[in-house]
Amino acid sequence: MEPFGIKPFCSVSRRSLLAATVGASLSSASWARVVGANDRVRVGFIGLGLIGKRHLLDFQREKDAELVAVAETHSARRDEALGLLGSSARGYRDFRELLDRQDIDAVVVSTPDHWHALPTMAACAAGKDVYVEKPLSLFVREGRWMVDCATHHKRIVQVGTQQRSGPHYQRAKELINNGYLGKISSVRLCSYRNISPGFATHPDQPPPEELDWQFWLGPAPDRPYNPGRAIYHFRWFWDTSGGQMTNLAAHSIDLVHWILGLDAPTAVASTGGRYCLTGLGETPDTQDAFFEYPGLSVVWSHREASVGRKEQPYVEFAGTHGCLSLSRKALIVDPDPKLPPECFIPSFGEDQPVGGPRSLPLPENPSYRCERIVDRTGSERDQFRRHVRDFLDCVKSRQTPRSDLESAHRVATACHLANLSLRFGRKLRWDPKREEILDDPLASAALERPYRAPWDKLLASLRV
Ligand SMILES: NC(=O)c1ccc[n+]([C@@H]2O[C@H](COP(=O)([O-])OP(=O)(O)OC[C@H]3O[C@@H](n4cnc5c(N)ncnc54)[C@H](O)[C@@H]3O)[C@@H](O)[C@H]2O)c1
Repeated sequence: MEPFGIKPFCSVSRRSLLAATVGASLSSASWARVVGANDRVRVGFIGLGLIGKRHLLDFQREKDAELVAVAETHSARRDEALGLLGSSARGYRDFRELLDRQDIDAVVVSTPDHWHALPTMAACAAGKDVYVEKPLSLFVREGRWMVDCATHHKRIVQVGTQQRSGPHYQRAKELINNGYLGKISSVRLCSYRNISPGFATHPDQPPPEELDWQFWLGPAPDRPYNPGRAIYHFRWFWDTSGGQMTNLAAHSIDLVHWILGLDAPTAVASTGGRYCLTGLGETPDTQDAFFEYPGLSVVWSHREASVGRKEQPYVEFAGTHGCLSLSRKALIVDPDPKLPPECFIPSFGEDQPVGGPRSLPLPENPSYRCERIVDRTGSERDQFRRHVRDFLDCVKSRQTPRSDLESAHRVATACHLANLSLRFGRKLRWDPKREEILDDPLASAALERPYRAPWDKLLASLRV
């Protein structure tokens, strides 16, 4: 079946990947070294686009970070980064050359989604710690390979869900964990914007000289170059991303898992499609996804062609005492009016407003202690900086960073399941222990996708 005219993922068996000839395997033994508390951490960057540049500037602020190298498939971006790093830094087209350097302790991977797993795993095998952007993976199995590889090589990996480092997000976690909202039964997550009719369209064309298009595509299927599917716009194609479900919902579902201590839904259903946007692009402009957790319902909605309410909460935890909404800048608690249930029995008499609550005396309820809170101290810039600092501290202490790899894999899995549900047109039930879709062989086959040669060989050499 081909929902929305999109080709289904090809399925690939574990055997066919492993049967491939193994290429030169990277050894970690000679490179692994523990950085002392007073040492500087020598950092290299892989991918220097929109967010990569932000990371470069944030690492540059840290006195114990020495920024020594950048690998970029786009030469103008590589040169711009080298200009920021100074004359002692080296630039590479191929990240494997950067990873070959024994004097680099850590790398920051800010490539498009289809290029997160390989550089992360190769870096771990080369004895380097990694800060890798969300969404962790392009498909479910990739995330588990990354976790296994980093665990095997004992590497520190921080994932770019930087909200966990934001003090107002931490305050939200504390409030909810201390029972301030009472029992949480649902969380609503959303992102609304209006980019209709869609981004400008271009014909397929030869790639610009400054971009190594084949390297940029890497393990993804071969496609003709088009500016509308390359820099930044990779987000709208199944080959290279999971659309806003993995781009934005990954952040929000991460908050749900982190704050409520969850690691996986037991069922996921999603509907939507590309209803409004024209031009290139495959991923839905309108999508709703429903995640079932024991005793909790989570709903994600994104709209790319309707801006909705002006001030969106983005994330809204609903509890029996009130609701807590979060954006990157604010935390707001709205207490529920605490009325006895009898007040909600509608009254249709002459002296009462139709459907209005009956005027009973308000009861004293000692367990009810939720007050209105408005905290607008959040700063997106600050969250990025703190996340970078946490990573550097963990590189030195060898402690687990705030956004650890296992939890990021679980979050990415939830997002991928939503996209699979949408594309297969049915609700999927998930076994979180075995990491398997139940009773659905067709959808299960899409938990894994093939890598294009020669990258399949590198993958095979890195799997542990
Ligand atoms: N944490 C956040 O809030 C946040 C914000 C924006 C983007 N992101 C994530 O960061 C990633 C990058 O997004 P972006 O908007 O910066 O994209 P972008 O297209 O602006 O930049 C990606 C860069 O990677 C380069 N690249 C591609 N393959 C490469 C390879 N194999 N080796 C070296 N360089 C390579 C490209 O040439 C490009 O310059 C995405 O996964 C995105 O989801 C996270």
